[in-house]
Amino acid sequence: MEYCVTGKVLGFLSFFLLLLLLQQCSSLEVTVPSSQSSLIGRDVLLPCTFRVDNPPVNPKFLALLWHFGDKEVLRYDTKGKVSSPRISIDEKLILEGNASLSLSNVTISDGGTYRCSVIYSPDTQQKEIRLHIHAVPEVAVAKRTLIKNQGTSLHCSVTHFYPQSITVTWLRNGKLLANSVLGPLHQNADGTFRQNSTLTLTPSDTLNNPEIVCQVQHESLATPRQDSYKVQYGVPPSVQVYSAKINGLPEQVLVCEAAQFQPEPVQIKWILNGKIAEDPRKSKDGGFKKGSYYLMNPMTGSQEGNISCEVEHETLLHPITETLQLRQEDPERKYPVRNMLAAIFLTVLLTGAGITAALWYFIFKLKYFQRFWVSHIHRSQMLDGEKVTLYCVASDCPKDPQVIWTVEENDGKKMEITEDEPQAEGEGKKLLDQEFSVRTDRTETDGRHNVTSSLSFTPDVSKHKEMSVFCKFVCDGKAKEEQIHCSFILLKPKDSMKLSLSESGEVLSCLTLREFYPREIQIRWSCGVGHYQQLESNGKTTTNSGSSFNIESECKLPGHLFKDPGFKVRVTWNHRSSDGEESREFSAWDPEFPWCPWMEEIINPDTLIHRKEGKFQCKIWGYFPDALEVEWLRREAGGKELFSVCPSEKYKIPEMEQKREADGTFSCTVSLIVSVSAITEQGAEFICQVGHPSLRELLKRSTGALRVRGVPVMTNITQKDRHIIMEIDQFYPQNIEVTWHRAGKERKDYKKIPDADIHNELYENSDGSYRLTSTCEGMNLVDKMNPFDVYFTVKVQHETLNPPMRKELLRDKGVYYLLSEGQKRPLSKYTDPAPNNEEPVERN
Ligand SMILES: *[C@@H]1O[C@H](CO)[C@@H](O)[C@H](O)[C@H]1NC(C)=O
Ligand SMILES: *[C@@H]1O[C@H](CO)[C@@H](O)[C@H](O)[C@H]1NC(C)=O
Ligand SMILES: *[C@@H]1O[C@H](CO)[C@@H](O)[C@H](O)[C@H]1NC(C)=O
Ligand SMILES: *[C@@H]1O[C@H](CO)[C@@H](O)[C@H](O)[C@H]1NC(C)=O
Repeated sequence: MEYCVTGKVLGFLSFFLLLLLLQQCSSLEVTVPSSQSSLIGRDVLLPCTFRVDNPPVNPKFLALLWHFGDKEVLRYDTKGKVSSPRISIDEKLILEGNASLSLSNVTISDGGTYRCSVIYSPDTQQKEIRLHIHAVPEVAVAKRTLIKNQGTSLHCSVTHFYPQSITVTWLRNGKLLANSVLGPLHQNADGTFRQNSTLTLTPSDTLNNPEIVCQVQHESLATPRQDSYKVQYGVPPSVQVYSAKINGLPEQVLVCEAAQFQPEPVQIKWILNGKIAEDPRKSKDGGFKKGSYYLMNPMTGSQEGNISCEVEHETLLHPITETLQLRQEDPERKYPVRNMLAAIFLTVLLTGAGITAALWYFIFKLKYFQRFWVSHIHRSQMLDGEKVTLYCVASDCPKDPQVIWTVEENDGKKMEITEDEPQAEGEGKKLLDQEFSVRTDRTETDGRHNVTSSLSFTPDVSKHKEMSVFCKFVCDGKAKEEQIHCSFILLKPKDSMKLSLSESGEVLSCLTLREFYPREIQIRWSCGVGHYQQLESNGKTTTNSGSSFNIESECKLPGHLFKDPGFKVRVTWNHRSSDGEESREFSAWDPEFPWCPWMEEIINPDTLIHRKEGKFQCKIWGYFPDALEVEWLRREAGGKELFSVCPSEKYKIPEMEQKREADGTFSCTVSLIVSVSAITEQGAEFICQVGHPSLRELLKRSTGALRVRGVPVMTNITQKDRHIIMEIDQFYPQNIEVTWHRAGKERKDYKKIPDADIHNELYENSDGSYRLTSTCEGMNLVDKMNPFDVYFTVKVQHETLNPPMRKELLRDKGVYYLLSEGQKRPLSKYTDPAPNNEEPVERN
């Protein structure tokens, strides 16, 4: 664009005459690119060049301005340069027509529109340039050791990117995986974003150590960025916590054991009443079994509460936490509180298949504590299959104590196992083909010797059922011995079965076998009608504190199979504690089947009205599968027989809608709509009958004997000579009362018309309802002389009328009028009804 001299320039004439003579039609041209991008943290140049027609540029007429949005960020003119530290311009190049702006260390907030304005008097031109800031995402897959044959999830964190839009894809050995979701988007303080993607993996997805890649596409990247993880398998630890008292001392030893895990590193933390109990020594990472001791001192006031052992391992998404509740016991054994330490920690690391241990012990300087003590023998659970480990701790021995373990069979056979006998791995001492191995760990602090010793063996139930184990420590001639009795008897599992429903309509059957010993057990599931087919199932074994085992075995069955009451599920188990197989069976027809329908009482309409529809409803719920059979039956008044109700003009049976409830069961409301008639429904009864595969007998609910009402309707009111004849129809039951009153001259002071002047006749209609004609002698002989108006009222009372029906009439010059709503309508003349065979049923 060119700017030529215009009138507004004339003001400058006196100053710039010379110049203007030289530059008759000076022009200025500013050039910028439309946009510029930069990565966060980089230095960026926003180019802006300008050209004048007659160089060189005279600095006297030049001014430069840079704006960011509406804010001026840099100014350069004859008075000098104004700018901020991160924003600069190379002054030396300005006169060459280079007004480019340098921004150093750009941030997200530097992104936006910049304006380069050049004033070269009298011309001025400005151009805009957009600056886009990008931040390149960092991609990291959280690498975890996975458990073989187990579904899991992996996380990929994408951090520090801008702008916010990213695409995350997952690949397994180069093939796209579909099961991932993006987590919520978070913004960092510097304006960049972070977001996680979670990939769900099925057991088969992780088979054969595939390489899993998390790939991220972002506009700052020409090619996607990725992080990969080659699947590694491990074994999660099993964790147990138990406690034992130390002889003669108030302390309690708590033992937390993690076992069977792989790979090696594992962290064990103690948490006392929600706070991490500090471990005074750093524990060394041991092998595949690690234990931690925590010595609780009742003097410290913290002996009541909950203590948890928290175990972290790379196969675990969340740490395993086992909690013990501590209770105060035996307050007389309290020792005086002095500068007692809160707790002592003993951490024992047990490595490998054999047991190695290292003990750290915290010494107490208190006098009474400076004596030799031995703990009870603690028994660990059978973590390695069925291996038992017994521990015993001795402390505060002035000399290094000697440890002797003795095993005594119940037939009196004894064997001594002294510590640290040379033992090849897995080749300990044998008694009755049992292998025993001892491991002792010693530490010494300030001349006090502390020892933790363990004896491990795998009991063979068939060979010996009971034995006693003694642990003797000899300290400087003084011996202390502890004893424990171990019994290894066959324990027969106690079985229980639980059924539940899955979201997708499957029946999950779970068999729990409890407190059996030894661990080995086989469980098989099968199902069918008559002929059984093997089913897949999965089981999980846990260990009880009493050294027995529990197993939970679960099997999934499609729910629709239970529609056949003959369909049976059988689970059998085989354990050494019984000679043959044991089994359990169930079907929908079993009394224990949990989803039999429940039926509520029938909801009857408040009143059944003659000639109207009446609706009966009944709710049925809690059943599974959705195989409900509903039938409505009818019993006549006084009858015994039941008749099936079929949809017809008289009966409507709306289709039932079965609804799935949150707990997986079904519910529905069934209804029957009846066109009511007094003669047919009075005293009759409807019965709703429900059948289901889970029911041995049909469920029934009855409406009870029905009562029908008919509301009286005034069908006619006529005049016959001196009489008023009123006809009331369709009422039921027949009890009705009609009373007539009259008043002279004015509509007040009504007097009852004597019964002698009233004549009522009641008829029964063919539909069972009643009709009544009430004739009122409205004018006797005396009245004929009476020229005045006479008012009448008639009141009809019936149990269905509240308030009663009331009509008002006027006799004026021998003619009767009906008064209603301020109107006066003459009654029509009475005509005799066509003769019919209706006979009044009763005279009132
Ligand atoms: C303008 O100056 C900058 C340095 O401030 C330089 O990098 C750029 O190349 C120059 N532009 C031109 C067109 O000379
Ligand atoms: C760049 O800016 C960031 C954030 O404003 C700051 O933390 C960093 O120290 C800066 N770097 C340099 C080299 O000035
Ligand atoms: C992503 O996952 C990690 C680890 O689970 C978590 O620490 C982080 O807060 C998550 N970040 C976002 C943005 O959700
Ligand atoms: C210990 O745990 C139990 C059960 O979880 C809880 O009722 C009790 O309040 C806890 N005690 C303390 C001191 O936290």
